Amino acid sequence: MQDLLNELKNLKAEFETGLDSIKESKELDELRLKFLGKKGKITAQMKNMAKLSAEDRPVFGAEANRLRQQIEAAIQQAAKDLESARRELQFKAEELDVTRPGRALKRGLAHPITQVIDEISEVFFSLGFALADGPEVEFIKNNFDLLRIAEGHPARDFRDTFYINDEAVLRTQTSPVQIRTMQSQEPPIKIICPGRCYRSDTPDATHSPVFHQIEGLVIDHGIAMSDLVGHLELFAKAIFGQDTKIRLRPHHFPFTEPSCEVDISCWACHGVDSESCSTCRGETWVEILGAGMVHPEVIENCGLDSKEYSGFAFGLGVERTAMGRYGIDDIRRFYENDLRFLRQFH
Ligand code: DAH
Repeated sequence: MQDLLNELKNLKAEFETGLDSIKESKELDELRLKFLGKKGKITAQMKNMAKLSAEDRPVFGAEANRLRQQIEAAIQQAAKDLESARRELQFKAEELDVTRPGRALKRGLAHPITQVIDEISEVFFSLGFALADGPEVEFIKNNFDLLRIAEGHPARDFRDTFYINDEAVLRTQTSPVQIRTMQSQEPPIKIICPGRCYRSDTPDATHSPVFHQIEGLVIDHGIAMSDLVGHLELFAKAIFGQDTKIRLRPHHFPFTEPSCEVDISCWACHGVDSESCSTCRGETWVEILGAGMVHPEVIENCGLDSKEYSGFAFGLGVERTAMGRYGIDDIRRFYENDLRFLRQFH
């Protein structure tokens, strides 16, 4: 009996040493199994009871039970300690110092071409224009034929135009959106369409194979040249300043009749000392767009009655406007994506 009680004492000591060296819950589990498991040391001790006399049995049993309870409690406590130590570590790792200074968010900005498109669009929206759209891969019919750019016209030359096949091109202008809009909408029509255009040009300071235009189209009963002039005047003043004047010069476009090129008074020199002005180069006027009254045949080509409806159209080069506005001398700057250049357009 005394031997067995001594064994219990030894077991207790062994357990305590084992417990002291525990560093993680897996080891604690192993220790628990070693003492309390079915094949554990305490369980084995319980079996020893059979060898004892009737008086000794309850004494030893009580002693063994006490030890088991002690071990169970110790293991529970150790598990708790391990868990709180683990949490403490985790909290340390995830610690958030709310008093640290914030990291400033670096704000990007719209590309200057986009900025000019947005600004011009806003002016036309305020004049009641809606936004229209068309594909960049366009039917030859829409890009040329229905706009009265006949076969053999130099603009159709394969050296100037990117042909996809014998039906489609990369649109060379935004004017085909006029066709699409008249074919799909009943007048009154009042739209602008900003978008990319393509021409087979070798890049240089003033040419890029990809560039942007903004097309405008108004179709309704009784639209006259004076409506065109009035709208363009409002537009020019809104973009280039209230003292801006516009000038129309006769020109030729196949899809308008009459056609004109529109100049605005130089916003850089205002006509003063224009000889040394790098914007108008002594002209005092700067050309900004082509325009005209939509040719009756173009209106008919879209299924509308040209005796009932008339209208005006205009087309503006975005790059050219942006270059004039910001004094940029090389169109290629817009496409190089040099951040030192782009960041200047706040
Ligand atoms: N599409 C012409 C071009 O690319 C620009 C243009 C001129 C558009 C006159 C028009 C217009 O709508 O009426 O050169």
